[in-house]
Amino acid sequence: MADPFALFDTWFAEARASEPNEPDAMAVATAGADAQPSVRMVLLKAHGPEGFTFYTHEQSAKGRDLAQNPRAALLFHWKSLCRQVRIEGPIERVSDAEADAYFASRGRDSQLGAWASDQSQPLDSRDTFERRFDEMKQRYEDKDVPRPSGWIGYRVVPERIEFWTAREHRLHERRLFTREGSGWREGLLYP
Ligand SMILES: Cc1cc2nc3c(=O)[nH]c(=O)nc-3n(C[C@H](O)[C@H](O)[C@H](O)COP(=O)(O)O)c2cc1C
Repeated sequence: MADPFALFDTWFAEARASEPNEPDAMAVATAGADAQPSVRMVLLKAHGPEGFTFYTHEQSAKGRDLAQNPRAALLFHWKSLCRQVRIEGPIERVSDAEADAYFASRGRDSQLGAWASDQSQPLDSRDTFERRFDEMKQRYEDKDVPRPSGWIGYRVVPERIEFWTAREHRLHERRLFTREGSGWREGLLYP
């Protein structure tokens, strides 16, 4: 049976072995109620048949888009391998327990940064941000840093996954997997 997740695992392992940095970096595209697409990089933190997970603030621009239109597109580009992977589908929020566990695994300064950042809101000066960061340092001195309630994980549940490989003379190869019932249909696309 066609299994895009096994293929993703193989490609991701090869990217980890060959990309000079951040093979887990992916672009995530969203569009809110105004239909204006917006795209930015995030890091892939978990993946499998249940979906592809990243973490962010729900009050960020992307979080607000996803509240209005709970669908996203992801893009990996592994330059040294001449490959891209495109993933599209609806999103789910990961459970609080899963988000807590991942937050607890982050470095302490990243945890404090999540408290200090009012992500995507206007900032009057870098000093203000640094002051907020120092305040958080003091607030949580000698304490565990809890996960801010609005700092959450989104899982993109794929309906389409395309694996693209560059070939000579732009005769690129495109393998498209489309969800069909409980399985996947595999086909090819012209480049
Ligand atoms: C390589 C890379 C990885 C990033 N990873 C994350 C991430 O995992 N989560 C996140 O919220 N922002 C991440 N960022 C910052 C985002 O690109 C973006 O600036 C931020 O999330 C605000 O986006 P928004 O205003 O569109 O919501 C990353 C940036 C880069 C360049």
